[in-house]
Amino acid sequence: MKPTRFLFPALSFFAAGLASLSAVTVTVRVDQPGAAINPAMWGAFFEDINFGADGGLYAELVKNRGFEFPEPLMGWSTLSPSLAKGQVTVREDGPFNSNNPHYVRLQSEGTGLFGLSNEGFRGIGLRQGEAYEFSVRARAIAGKPTLKIQLYGGDGTLLDTIELKDFSADWRKYTGTLHPKDTDPKAHLAVLIEGKGGLDLDFVSLFPARTWQNRAGGLRADMVQALADLHPGFLRFPGGCIVEGSVLARRYQWKNTLGPVEDRKLLINRWNYEFLHRPAPDYFQSFGLGFFEYFQLCEDIGAQPLPIVNCGMACQFNSNELCPLDQLGTYIQDALDLVEFANGPATSAWGAKRAAMGHPAPFNMKMLGIGNEQWGIQYIERYEMFAKALKEKYPEISLISAAGPDPADPRFKFAWEKLRALHADIIDEHSYALPNWFFDNAHRYDRYERNGPKVFMGEYAAQSVAVLSTKNKNNLECALSEAAFLTGLERNADVVRMASYAPLFAHVDAWQWTPNLLWTDNLTTLRTPNYHVQRLFAQNRGDRILPVALTEIPPGETSRLYASSTLDDATGTVILKLVNATGKPSTATVNLAGVSKVSRGTLMVMQSADLQAVNSFESPDLVAPRETPFTPSASKFEISLPANSFSVVRVGVGK
Ligand code: AHR
Repeated sequence: MKPTRFLFPALSFFAAGLASLSAVTVTVRVDQPGAAINPAMWGAFFEDINFGADGGLYAELVKNRGFEFPEPLMGWSTLSPSLAKGQVTVREDGPFNSNNPHYVRLQSEGTGLFGLSNEGFRGIGLRQGEAYEFSVRARAIAGKPTLKIQLYGGDGTLLDTIELKDFSADWRKYTGTLHPKDTDPKAHLAVLIEGKGGLDLDFVSLFPARTWQNRAGGLRADMVQALADLHPGFLRFPGGCIVEGSVLARRYQWKNTLGPVEDRKLLINRWNYEFLHRPAPDYFQSFGLGFFEYFQLCEDIGAQPLPIVNCGMACQFNSNELCPLDQLGTYIQDALDLVEFANGPATSAWGAKRAAMGHPAPFNMKMLGIGNEQWGIQYIERYEMFAKALKEKYPEISLISAAGPDPADPRFKFAWEKLRALHADIIDEHSYALPNWFFDNAHRYDRYERNGPKVFMGEYAAQSVAVLSTKNKNNLECALSEAAFLTGLERNADVVRMASYAPLFAHVDAWQWTPNLLWTDNLTTLRTPNYHVQRLFAQNRGDRILPVALTEIPPGETSRLYASSTLDDATGTVILKLVNATGKPSTATVNLAGVSKVSRGTLMVMQSADLQAVNSFESPDLVAPRETPFTPSASKFEISLPANSFSVVRVGVGK
């Protein structure tokens, strides 16, 4: 039968100008399905870095709402539009909440509006036609002043105003709704006292009414939507180095992130001061996005929760502070309590706390990470103690253990040997490296022992310039190198059970680390080429591995062609992923061995002539997959592989 030739008309001009690579043959053994692929194979890694939580996913628009930053008025400035006289003082006597004791006193001589303005997180993003919920804790100190709440655009235009009055002498919550008359990504909020007298104010808050699932005080809808569209099989949280803290006192403690948000004690974010070249003195953790919200988010988007707990070690790149082994009990108890919080009945001590927050049913957590990117014997000793306690009480929970920051490092080998001897369940590997590393390591897992611990490729991202370079870009070359690497993970899905790119989110005006999967400004979320690679893998996972062989690459010719294939059992669909990371087009003759009948399918191709191409807020879809119907006429067919491309082919098959 004549092979089907599928053409890309839009690309033919470009292709015609280039010499082609030799044609290749791709043989997919549809008659030899292999191991089952973990349904949660492709996941996401979330850390509060780059203003990912406060100023990001957590939709609060007011920075330093509780005046708890070490400089209590950071993010705020005094405002007196008509040069009225007044005073602002920061106090802590008789606070509204002793966990967050600071508040401000506004006093006015009654000569006009006087008060404070909040700059938000590099501005406040407002959308015309949408509602914004303002709230404040307040008490009257003297007189009967009113409070004017105003939104101003970046250029100083008044966008809306409301008035609150009749304040009690006790702390109470006062609320109002604002409707800005214009869209503005860089607005600010003014809180102004009018009339002679004084008011104490705390917990000044502004949220869009339209949050993810319209939850009051919830998450930013566009950011969660981008995450949900990835179809992540799991969500790892809360990091990352943030789990460890630069010292143990600043480690992430999940128990401090539960209950009413006002009770959650503010903590400095380690990314506030980690990089001298990217300081973020206004970066703190309000924990408005806490562990309950993380679990709820996982449930919303159908991702398995994968929390990581501190294992008694502060960041080894920082202080390397260790909790002595004989004092590790508290840390281990925190891990045990976390399982009860997530999975225990509502009658259990920690299950009751979950129920009190509105979720009596368990969250069905199946995995737990012990430590983040730890290494050395200090880690092994601690992991062993955690594993003993957890396996005794919760043998059904799979434990993720650490193997340090870099597979080329001797510490990685050391960790693997020790963890293998301890029969660890799943080992977390990290790699931030140049694109070449990812191309060169596409076959890395072909050589892994099949019966040892499984692999979680828990953090990786191709770095276009160098690790930690501020010039790193989310360009097509990096995305293709990751796609090539992921074909290797998929072909070895019996060993590699999970993978997640890192980091997930970054604010364009407030990042510390680059590259990142998604970039945000105050209104929108930008999807990178790397995101599209992740999404194509997750949405086209399949249930079983199919052996695939690439042949006919003449010696000496570049071999940057990669393939993997899976079978979707329910729909009887063969899924084939092909990467052509060369600058030359090629043609693949695909042979679906063991298939006699083919039916309708689709073809998704992401490509660009320019390997350095990136998406931007101005051209968000410059590098994105294009989908077309694809129906081969037989089980052997031809397909074009454009230069610099990642293609996913889906073909229905029958016997
Ligand atoms: O993803 C950024 C950082 O890289 C993570 O916090 C850490 O685990 C790794 O070193």
